[in-house]
Amino acid sequence: MCGIVGYVGRREAAPILVDRLDDLSYRGYDSAGVAVAHDGVVVVEKCPGKIENLRAAVGKATPPGTLGLGHTRWATHGAPTQVNAHPHADCTGRLFVVQNGIIENFPTLKRELLERGHEFSTETDTEVVIHLLEEYYDGDLLAAAKKTAARLEGSFALAFLAAGEERLVAVRYHAPLIVGIGGGENFVASDITALLQDTNKVYVLENGDVVSVEANRIDVDSFLPDPPKALGTRQLTIVDWRPEDVSKNDYPHYMLKEIHEQPRALERTLQGRIKDGEIVLREMGLASELIRRVNSFHLVACGTAYHAALFGKYLFERVLRVPVSADIASEFRYRDPIVDGRSLVILISQSGETADTIGSLEEARARGAKTLAVVNVRGSTLAREADAVLYTRAGPEIAVASTKAFTAQLTAMFLLVCYLADRRRMEWPYPREELLAHLASLPSYLEQTLEQTAATAREWGQLIANEADCYFLGRNVDEPLAREAALKLKEISYVHAEAYAAGELKHGTIALIAEGTPVVSFMTQAEVWDKMISNLHEVRARGARTFAVAREDGIGLEDLVEGVMTLPAAPELFAPILAAVPAQLLAYEAAVALGRDVDQPRNLAKSVTVE
Ligand code: F6R
Repeated sequence: MCGIVGYVGRREAAPILVDRLDDLSYRGYDSAGVAVAHDGVVVVEKCPGKIENLRAAVGKATPPGTLGLGHTRWATHGAPTQVNAHPHADCTGRLFVVQNGIIENFPTLKRELLERGHEFSTETDTEVVIHLLEEYYDGDLLAAAKKTAARLEGSFALAFLAAGEERLVAVRYHAPLIVGIGGGENFVASDITALLQDTNKVYVLENGDVVSVEANRIDVDSFLPDPPKALGTRQLTIVDWRPEDVSKNDYPHYMLKEIHEQPRALERTLQGRIKDGEIVLREMGLASELIRRVNSFHLVACGTAYHAALFGKYLFERVLRVPVSADIASEFRYRDPIVDGRSLVILISQSGETADTIGSLEEARARGAKTLAVVNVRGSTLAREADAVLYTRAGPEIAVASTKAFTAQLTAMFLLVCYLADRRRMEWPYPREELLAHLASLPSYLEQTLEQTAATAREWGQLIANEADCYFLGRNVDEPLAREAALKLKEISYVHAEAYAAGELKHGTIALIAEGTPVVSFMTQAEVWDKMISNLHEVRARGARTFAVAREDGIGLEDLVEGVMTLPAAPELFAPILAAVPAQLLAYEAAVALGRDVDQPRNLAKSVTVE
């Protein structure tokens, strides 16, 4: 989704803005632009396509001003052209805006502004914002921004610049925005990854905040008559990510780096959380009495995080013996969900900024449910808005395709279910000490998995790259894994893939299995082993080329499959976490073989901050 950066300080703004836009490029974009103020004049450069185009243009043309705005655009309203790229200017050419989000009432505002004689040059919803600002501007950017924001409907983060004013003004309303604090310089950005090179001190803005940012001064106001939190209570957050966490090191792609970072990521997820035979999640802040009172659990998320929710559903039901639902956030929020004061709604998200997941939290809260956010990004909207938060601590995830955040989410599901079981005084259905010892060993199991599966994943990936379709099968806890494998393959290689609960295949989709169609089966669960074997026979009988991911003791597959990737001998309950690794590697290798843009696949954004 769109990315915003702003700089005001002592250094030349243009190169800083372009570098920071590069840092935000992982969010997904199709054009980029900057506006730089110098001696009362503002110069704008914008280009469709890659940041490098912008960098070249900026190098030639931009003045050495120390105040500026930058933007990466992920097109919603209007094609990704130079004209539609941000920043946008008003009719006088003295006011400028960049935006992330959607202005839902832009058609009404545009009619009104056209009647008042404003001239529009783009197809974007954003342009109404700057003409509206022009209506209200009388030399005070903060006052005009407040009036402008109060007229807008939708979800938006905005940053403004006015020729002749030595400040930026930024607005946040249901779209992420932070202010970074430097020495004699300050920043505005959509997320912290853009600022790690410059500062680890940030203010996370609240909905309704309008901030004036000067080189040595920050003032917070609100455009809402009734701000959600008193002004003056914005807490300075110290970010514990390091600049090297967001560099590629020697890896060809962020995705590969992040796949290999998983052992370390899981170490952090588990750190300090298993002590003397207990799961310690004190920082989460869920009272035991409340946990005991809950009579329904609901897991809600989007995309890969939804697959973690599906895995959580199996696990929670197995251990807690209460009904657990797993929902796609965009469905949950609009399906009149049955939740009330005795429900716990658990929102899972890497970014903590996914619009539908935030919408689900609001829906759950409005119905009196308690909310728990399982998120990776500290200070994100979900983390701040939920009643309780469990951080997955996977570290910054830059590749669009989620990998380490996913295995950290699966691990968090284990921590959570054990914690809840203890508070609800449930018997664990597994020997406790043994389970905790294996849980603590997950990082080394993952290390072994990487070693054991990398070479075969390359072979399979290259083979699948030549196919039009690929099918993934699984049962029980392997079923969400099959879904995740299919999503990974689709999103980065563009090979069509589908996942099925293996028993469901013959209710229709088996018609698509033809001579040579690749079918990858996840077979880590003893309870459904025989069923999976039958499913393998069925697809082979129709000409499929079959492959399996199984545990070390998964012998007996030799005559049924062309290849097996074996996982380390961890308890089968943990096997799906390990099986995620070959699924990710296989998708990665297929994408590389096809020459795809692995880290920034077409049409996708890292953080989906609009509905
Ligand atoms: C797929 C992927 C997406 C995200 C989804 C939710 O690889 O990354 O499907 O999982 O957009 O994002 P978060 O977890 O940030 O809420």
